[in-house]
Amino acid sequence: MLVRWKEIYEYYHAMDQSPWGDEPSPRISSLSSLLKDGLVLDIGCGDGRNSIKLLQMGFTVCAIDVVEIALAKLRSKAKRMGLENALHTLLHDVHLGLPFRDSTFDLVVDSFTFTFIKEKERYVGEVRRVLRKGGIFLLEFNMQPHILSHEELMEMAFRYMQGFKVLRTYTFYHSWGCISNERAREVPAIALMAVRS
Ligand SMILES: C[S@@+](CC[C@H](N)C(=O)[O-])C[C@H]1O[C@@H](n2cnc3c(N)ncnc32)[C@H](O)[C@@H]1O
Repeated sequence: MLVRWKEIYEYYHAMDQSPWGDEPSPRISSLSSLLKDGLVLDIGCGDGRNSIKLLQMGFTVCAIDVVEIALAKLRSKAKRMGLENALHTLLHDVHLGLPFRDSTFDLVVDSFTFTFIKEKERYVGEVRRVLRKGGIFLLEFNMQPHILSHEELMEMAFRYMQGFKVLRTYTFYHSWGCISNERAREVPAIALMAVRS
């Protein structure tokens, strides 16, 4: 599925809005029961609703995305909040692999980027490679344009989690228009918190 990410960000930023809202995923704050600090990779960070929350929680964040204006927006939000020293951004297409050494990160967050990854098995292998042993992977996704049920999403996720032990699973919905609006019961989505074995 071709998604014109740059155009989406240009459209929303022209109205001084974010396409995904500013509300972080509710699963992000739950991570504090597993990890107190460390280095996080936020894959497909967008304009940073989750990266900002992770910075506020005391993590050092490496945020990567294919759209420079989304990264620029994240940097300016972080600067306004005095959080920029713990933020590193990188313009990168994850289809080319993850440009980091083995066992670099304590936590990897993928919030709704997985949906758009073509070679999912290879991608999860890369996530596992850059996570340290015992590191945490938070994966959240839906399927588009053909909507999958919670059960189908769960089955799909477990198929790809080779080399991980799943600690927690979540099922939820979000609205058609916005992944951060979890009050509307429209699009089924799931999340997994897994530990790298
Ligand atoms: C649905 S948005 C989610 C943004 C953010 N994770 C959030 O939850 O607010 C998906 C993001 O993944 C990025 N993305 C899509 N394909 C990518 C790729 N191949 N490499 C890096 N980022 C990608 C898009 O630019 C977009 O910012």
